[in-house]
Amino acid sequence: MKLRSAAFGLACAAIAVSSSAASMEAAPWAKAVATEQKMKPAERATLTLGIMAVPYGAVVNLPAGALYGAGFIPGIPRLGVPALTETDASLGVAYASGFRKDGGATPLPSGVALGATWDPDLVRRGGAMIGGEARAKGFNVMLAGGVNLMRDPRNGRTFEYIGEDPLHSGILAGALITGVQSNHIISTIKHFALNGQETGRHFLNSRISDAAARESDLLAFQIAIENGQPGAVMCGYNKVNGAQACGNEYLLNKVLKTDWRYKGFVMSDWGAVNAIDFALKGLDQQSGVQLDPKPFFGADLQSLAATDPLYRARLADMNRRILYAIYANRLDAFPVKPGGLIDKAANARVAEQVARESIVLLRNHDGVLPLAKSAKRIAVIGGYADTGILSGGGSSQVHLEGGASAVVSHGGLSPFASLLTEQYLRALPPLDAIRAMAPDAQVTFRSGDYIGEAVEQARNADIVIVFANQWQTEGIDLPDLTLPRGQDALIEAVAAANPKTIVVLQTGSAVAMPWLERTAAVIEAWYPGGRGGQAIASVLFGDVNPSGRLPITFPASLNQLPRPKLDGSDSVEPNFLGLGTPGQTLTVDYDIEGSDVGYRWNARKNFTSLFPLGFGLSFTSFEYSDFKTDGVRATFTVRNSGKRAGATVAQVYLTRRPDGKKERLVAFQKVELAAGERRLVTVPIERRVIADWANSKWNVRPGAYAFALGENAEKLGPTQTVRLPTSSWAP
Ligand code: BGC
Repeated sequence: MKLRSAAFGLACAAIAVSSSAASMEAAPWAKAVATEQKMKPAERATLTLGIMAVPYGAVVNLPAGALYGAGFIPGIPRLGVPALTETDASLGVAYASGFRKDGGATPLPSGVALGATWDPDLVRRGGAMIGGEARAKGFNVMLAGGVNLMRDPRNGRTFEYIGEDPLHSGILAGALITGVQSNHIISTIKHFALNGQETGRHFLNSRISDAAARESDLLAFQIAIENGQPGAVMCGYNKVNGAQACGNEYLLNKVLKTDWRYKGFVMSDWGAVNAIDFALKGLDQQSGVQLDPKPFFGADLQSLAATDPLYRARLADMNRRILYAIYANRLDAFPVKPGGLIDKAANARVAEQVARESIVLLRNHDGVLPLAKSAKRIAVIGGYADTGILSGGGSSQVHLEGGASAVVSHGGLSPFASLLTEQYLRALPPLDAIRAMAPDAQVTFRSGDYIGEAVEQARNADIVIVFANQWQTEGIDLPDLTLPRGQDALIEAVAAANPKTIVVLQTGSAVAMPWLERTAAVIEAWYPGGRGGQAIASVLFGDVNPSGRLPITFPASLNQLPRPKLDGSDSVEPNFLGLGTPGQTLTVDYDIEGSDVGYRWNARKNFTSLFPLGFGLSFTSFEYSDFKTDGVRATFTVRNSGKRAGATVAQVYLTRRPDGKKERLVAFQKVELAAGERRLVTVPIERRVIADWANSKWNVRPGAYAFALGENAEKLGPTQTVRLPTSSWAP
């Protein structure tokens, strides 16, 4: 029996941090102050300015010590301060448009797949793996920890983020960051905050009330920062309530540095700075300077600090914060050097384990899955299943050794076209993995480009497996949730020809499934990473009992979304940089749903989704009983009532508060059980999730609170009602 606690781990971690926090933190901070005080005037601005470390704009040759990657900030050798070598991102060491020739890296499944594991311990191991590769390649800063909530499934970066719920996203992002930083390198958390769509990302203004933000997106960051202690926070491109996120007094100085007492540093996103006074608003480091109008930090900041005491004090603080992150993660004691050893086989196994635990079984009519290994005739159709594994586009793109096995261009001839390519990882293709699982079967493959041909194959097969893909990228949102390039029609036709049709989805986000009822089974494999083919085949043939649960709601239609039309979709040209014209604004009103993101919104509107948050089937069955709660913790029994071992994710939801109906995920835990095994589980309830934010405090109002154990956000067991006294506390 293996029991993996999410919320419980959070509580333990919090206790451990608070008891030793003072002594753990004092040393690096004191050391940071001492180093800062030794800086000569000419050294003071060094750490505040970084380049994008590829030949672009003014940077044609990289400075000494820099590596091709996301960015570079020179160190101060006289003081033993290391240079900062930065690589993207949350899913592995990014390939940096192919400039770096170092044999590729191990791609984890996408962020939303990490979210689908609901397993912080596994995600921490994934983080440790990618952070280890970053270190071995010479990077000491990893731009990981993407934790923006999915406010819209069309957001092009949904695949990079974890999910839609602040507790779930916060715990898992915190675990990823902990893993990355266990290598004595810095991880970021990003993009702070409310960067909820890519359309118009450089000029979009997210409008939201303080309370709604604190109870949703900001809470995800807060929990992840508490759990993961990232050395750096990357602020977003967008504006929040009128001010650029990277020059946003409220977000940076008030929420992050004052209310949360964050001691690390804030780095800008690449091309997100347009004024020197962002320093006063809380920005500590300007990154990727070639993408900004000019280097505001660096020399300009230094000369301003010479005459202006406000800037002087700020510059000292900026240095201390950057040095604190360096010392807290011991970058100085464990210097990085390119060419370190990487155990590729071991790392691939970690990626595969994450993929195995992230795949969600959405439909399994008449128990068609798992497939018998003795199956005779299998037709595999579509999705480049003969070629490789789909991955997401943009700065987070990771290449396996040898680059991509297929590339579909979406970026035209723009300078960032290489980032806007639909790439298939040069990994074992699902077709080959299926053939390996069923060596005696006759397995055919057709591209699916021609429906007639696919239908003919389907008619002649015992089982049809259709692979269908939805590619996503940073920089461009999805216009809708249909499968592109006619794949919906393909599935419809194939399923009509053979009812034993199994659909395997590789998607970054939710998709519509107009064909759902006509299929025998549906598997959501996300972008499953470097061993995705093996993981998919293992689920199809039952070597893995699927335990992934959706980390995002799949809406029944776009009309269920708070914004059925994506703001700017008709007026803003999709592209990567999309700086807009001077003064251009696009306001997105997040006060429509407020903190009721995703399943919370559906509960408020009484919508039934296509598939709700937390949904996922198994090849075994689970029974839940004895649910009890006092509002502080919940206990219940889970039993594996089926015939094979498997894991489930127990979810506890708030369903009602004294002020009315309110649905909130308050705790979750993945539980793995042998057939017939039962387990009594106790989880703590995250109190910020049941509270309101008002008057600069969290407030629990007195009265009756109802809680329920849920298999998912829409399948809740009987409620338990408890009376809670009034309480409030500062952030
Ligand atoms: C992205 C960041 C990334 C940075 C550096 C930006 O385009 O928004 O997530 O870390 O580039 O590559």
